[in-house]
Amino acid sequence: MMRIDILTCLPRLLDSWFAESILQRAQGKGAVEVRIQDLRDWSTDKHRKVDDYPFGGGAGMVMTIEPIQRAIDQLKGERDYDEVIYMTPDGERMEQGLVNQLSTLGNLIILCGHYKGVDERVREYLITKEISIGDYVLSGGELAAAVLSDAVIRLLPGVLGDETSALSDSFQDGLLAPPVYTRPADHNGWKVPEVLLSGHEARIHDWRLQQAMERTRQRRPDLLGKDEKD
Ligand code: ADE
Repeated sequence: MMRIDILTCLPRLLDSWFAESILQRAQGKGAVEVRIQDLRDWSTDKHRKVDDYPFGGGAGMVMTIEPIQRAIDQLKGERDYDEVIYMTPDGERMEQGLVNQLSTLGNLIILCGHYKGVDERVREYLITKEISIGDYVLSGGELAAAVLSDAVIRLLPGVLGDETSALSDSFQDGLLAPPVYTRPADHNGWKVPEVLLSGHEARIHDWRLQQAMERTRQRRPDLLGKDEKD
């Protein structure tokens, strides 16, 4: 079973997120165990401080290395971890390929940054992977850690009802997903494409592929020919 430990100084932000929805089901099914860890528990300061002023001056506080190192050391003493990830806007951009790769691993630690970030020595000596969820700045890494965890957990065996449904996601084949329809077949004259009602599997498959390609060409032409560029 995969285990994800999320280190944060704002644990309540994430507690409710992981107690709900598909993530709760995933944990109930034994596909993953998510532990939200309060970094302040590893602070030795009487006010449970986890940040300090930046050397050299400047605005904003910096997260200190000691509580982070103690937390990581303790967790690593209890089990092996495959990656210690830091969520940061200057990390590797998160895409489906990276998510697929992480979903094959065992245990992950995810560190959420706050304030002006973490002491650079955390990144240099303790972190094995830095991930950004996009080119914009959030007020903390918690939402980013939730986004990454959600994308990874839904790929774990047994989490999605239909085992094959993650394979038909947008991006899994480098294309956006085709449109889907359900009853009624005719809603006030707005009709479902005839081919989907035909029962003709091969034609339906061709139609979906053609729609996926057309949609990708119109909305995300950057995705086409991406494999050739890589
Ligand atoms: N922390 C703040 N902004 C972030 C982003 N875009 N991605 C990951 N972590 C972040």
